[in-house]
Amino acid sequence: MVKNMLVDLDSLIKDTHAAYNVFGKYYDLMYAAQGRKAGIYRPDVADAFTDVISSTGSKFILDCACGTGDPIIGVALKLFASQSEHMRIIASDASDEMIVKCKNNAIEEGLGEKHSDNFESLSLEITRSCWEELPEKFGSNRFDMVMCVGHGFFHLISREKMISALRSMTEVLKPGGYVVFDVKRWDKNDDLHQEKGVEPVKWRNWVQDGDKRLMFLSTSTWFDDQRAVDGVIQLKNFYVLEEGLLGLQTNARCLFWGAPFRATTALELAFDAGLTDVQELILNMPSEKNEAYLRDNVTIIGKKP
Ligand SMILES: C[S@@+](CC[C@H](N)C(=O)[O-])C[C@H]1O[C@@H](n2cnc3c(N)ncnc32)[C@H](O)[C@@H]1O
Repeated sequence: MVKNMLVDLDSLIKDTHAAYNVFGKYYDLMYAAQGRKAGIYRPDVADAFTDVISSTGSKFILDCACGTGDPIIGVALKLFASQSEHMRIIASDASDEMIVKCKNNAIEEGLGEKHSDNFESLSLEITRSCWEELPEKFGSNRFDMVMCVGHGFFHLISREKMISALRSMTEVLKPGGYVVFDVKRWDKNDDLHQEKGVEPVKWRNWVQDGDKRLMFLSTSTWFDDQRAVDGVIQLKNFYVLEEGLLGLQTNARCLFWGAPFRATTALELAFDAGLTDVQELILNMPSEKNEAYLRDNVTIIGKKP
């Protein structure tokens, strides 16, 4: 379904932040229901990013879209097991609820403890920050690598906002440091108005959560909009339904806005933000996983001059 829309982009971004704050509670449950993540993080993805960090000699890392901790919890576990004395890792995200989940997940994986209300960890610092606020929060020339992985970047919708966020990420990097970000491989169908064929309603499975049965559904709508980075805005509505004695009730309805874009656009954005040596990064994964991951993801790496 393609429509036209007249709403200011900032309110779509606000809706999306609000959606993560509501959906954060269900995020891991939905992935578990779908069988897309067996645990808190995907080990192959965490291993692949750990390799990138090690092979670039990066020691001070920021994952600025940590969500509930995939893949950064896996990365931290691996790096601290092998080279703890040299590494420092910070995880940040715009959503308070995703941060709460990330802290709980880090505790569950043995990376930290809760002292009164505070999460304390020797190996992973977790804090709230928007991409726009990174320089204010962390200062300039700090990190060896800034990661923004898990497809959050497309929520910024416009080219200007994406370039500005990449500039923030670059600002907090030391000269010679790397930004790594990813997006879905939207252009595999040569049509940005679809994800994997047309899916008017997507059944995302159900899960037993204590004495509750939760069900997950989503729908997608596309809007032609010249303000979007490649001319298309996507709205994904996620619904969380709970089955009770009297039938189904809607626990959450979340609006996630984003703008799909092509791999060539992702490269352009990184160049336009002032990064050098920009290229698509081919992650090192077992071959059968690699094939699926490469089919669905574009990962870009660029260097701060
Ligand atoms: C799809 S989730 C990915 C989370 C995690 N890395 C994963 O793969 O499961 C995208 C994340 O980006 C965060 N996010 C979206 N816009 C943001 C912004 N402007 N600044 C910081 N984080 C943002 C969301 O709160 C969300 O946790």
